[in-house]
Amino acid sequence: MSKTSSEIPTAAALLIWYDRHHRDLPWRVSPPMAARGVKAEPYQVWLSEVMLQQTTVPAVKSYFAKFLERWPTVTDLAAAPTDDVMAAWAGLGYYARARNLKKCAEAVANDHAGIFPDTEEGLKALPGIGDYTAAAVAAIAFDQQAAVMDGNVERVISRLYAIATPLPAAKPLMRQKVALLTPATRPGDFAQAMMDLGATICTPKRPACSLCPFRDACEALRLHDPEHFPVKAAKKDKPVRQGAAFIAVTSEGEILLRRRGESGLLGGMTEVPTTGWTARIDGATGTEAAPFAADWQACGTVTHVFTHFELRLTIYRSALAAKPAADDGWWEPVTNLDSQALPTVMKKAIAQAIPRAFKSRD
Ligand code: ADE
Repeated sequence: MSKTSSEIPTAAALLIWYDRHHRDLPWRVSPPMAARGVKAEPYQVWLSEVMLQQTTVPAVKSYFAKFLERWPTVTDLAAAPTDDVMAAWAGLGYYARARNLKKCAEAVANDHAGIFPDTEEGLKALPGIGDYTAAAVAAIAFDQQAAVMDGNVERVISRLYAIATPLPAAKPLMRQKVALLTPATRPGDFAQAMMDLGATICTPKRPACSLCPFRDACEALRLHDPEHFPVKAAKKDKPVRQGAAFIAVTSEGEILLRRRGESGLLGGMTEVPTTGWTARIDGATGTEAAPFAADWQACGTVTHVFTHFELRLTIYRSALAAKPAADDGWWEPVTNLDSQALPTVMKKAIAQAIPRAFKSRD
C-alpha cells in the first residue's frame, strides 16, 4: 500500500471509528447506550477485565453471564463460598485470578461498603488488582484519564510509532505513548477502541490497514511492514514436564477425585490423583506411583501448555469392582463432573479415559 502523507495520530480519529465499528460486548456500555445516559457498572467492568486477562472475548462471554446470574453484585460474590466461585471459574484458567477475584470482592464489600474506589490508586490497593486492571476499571467505569495497555494495545501502539525495541523492554515507552494519546474526554471509550482496533483491524497477521483510522499516521505502515511490530525478544522453548494421572472408576460410576493444596499451580482446584510433574520420566511418573494397586491400563497421553512449561500426562484407567478407601479424596459420580472445580488439564485427562465424561465444552 502506498502512502504519501504522514499525519499525527489523534484520539478523535479513533473515537469516530469506534462510534461506528465498536464491538457489542455484554459488559460494555456502547456509544449509543452512553448517549441514552447508561453508565458502566463498575462490578461488571472489573469482573470482565479480570476474566479477559489471558482469555479471549468469545471464551469469556458465557462465564461472564454465569457469574452475573449467580452473583449479580460484588456483595453477592463476596458472600459466595470460595469453592463455588472456583467451580464456576473452572475452565477459564489461571486460577489464582479466581482466588484473587473473591478476595477483592470481599475487600470491596467489607472495607468499601460494596462500592469500588474510583481512582487508579484506590483500585490498585485492592487485592489482585494490578496496573492493567486498575487502569482499565478507572477508565472504563469511572472515565478517568488512565493509560490502558494490554496485548492488543501494545500491538497498535508499537505499529503506530514503529517501536523497534523488543518486548518486554519496550513497555515503558509504549505506556508513555498510550498516555500521551489518551484523551481527557471519553478515556474509557478510547481504551476500548484501542482494544477493538487491535482485535479486529490491527491483527497480528494480515492487518486490515486500509480500514484503519490511523492509516495516515501509522509509522509501521509507512515502512510497509506492520507485521514486523511489536518486536519480540527471541522465545525460549518451554521446558517439558511429565507425569501420570489415574482415573479410577467404580462399577457404580464413581471416579476418585481429590483437592490440590491451596498454594502453587492450580491451588485449591479439584484433580484426579496424579504423580508429581517432573522433568524426567522415572519411577515416580508411572503406575508405581498410583494411589493404590489396581489393574491400571494406559489409555494415551494428554498435553497441556502452562505459562512456564508444557505438561505431558500419561493417562491410566482402572475399572474397580470394589471401592478402595479414599484417604485424601472422595468418590464423585461421573455424571456430576460438570459441577466440579476441575481445571482444563484435568478435564482433558478424564475425557481421555472416559470420552463422554463432560456434557459442557469450555
Ligand atoms: N479485552 C480486555 N478488556 C477488553 C474490553 N474492555 N473490551 C474489549 N476487549 C477487551
